[in-house]
Amino acid sequence: MNKVSPSVMCINTMELKEKIESLDKAGVDLYHIDIMDGHFVPNFCLNGYLMKDIAAISKTPMDVHLMVTNPTEYIEYFAECGAEYITLHIEALMHPIRALKQIRSLGKKAGLAINPATDISQLTYMLDYIDLICVMTVDPGFAGQTLIPATIEKIRKIRAMFADAGKEVEIMVDGQVKESTAPELVKAGANILVLGTSGLFNAYTPEEYPKAIKFYQNL
Ligand code: DX5
Ligand code: ZN
Repeated sequence: MNKVSPSVMCINTMELKEKIESLDKAGVDLYHIDIMDGHFVPNFCLNGYLMKDIAAISKTPMDVHLMVTNPTEYIEYFAECGAEYITLHIEALMHPIRALKQIRSLGKKAGLAINPATDISQLTYMLDYIDLICVMTVDPGFAGQTLIPATIEKIRKIRAMFADAGKEVEIMVDGQVKESTAPELVKAGANILVLGTSGLFNAYTPEEYPKAIKFYQNL
């Protein structure tokens, strides 16, 4: 069974509480929290206060996707805000193994996010320290973009790289995961689906969430 992680940046802030309640009822596995600094990506969005507010009304764990230039400075902070998975961009890390170890030392799952144009060969040297790889299928920064097809092959290669080494890993896919793209992404090896605009919030009414979530979980 796959896990689904609705992208909270795609929820209208005015509707946050009712949407979270509906999604909890529909049985989502995680909430995907996008943090942007206006520097690593040309946009701003969620924050730690919001994570604490969500944690106060929901038991569903959160995965935090840090799209910031200096992610290692904020590992402890986001652990305190209630993140279960902390995902840092490989493009922003000088010493990725040190950062991954720090996340694990706080009892959290260590994630690495990879932009569409980033080569994956350096992952070979850090398989032992990674709990999750977040494969970006769009350049990060905005919801509602177009999926870059070459990233599907990248998922396959990452799945094979870990399997060949006899290691387990969770592969999250972020960007344009929707009814038409999700089957192929899962087939390629993804097991955590981030659901944004076209995959969930613009495609289904809250009444339809249970059915939609089951569809993605059972792919
Ligand atoms: C992109 C964000 C995604 C985004 C995905 O920078 O990291 O989480 O919300 O949205 P969709 O699925 O609409 O592309
Ligand atoms: Zn994201």
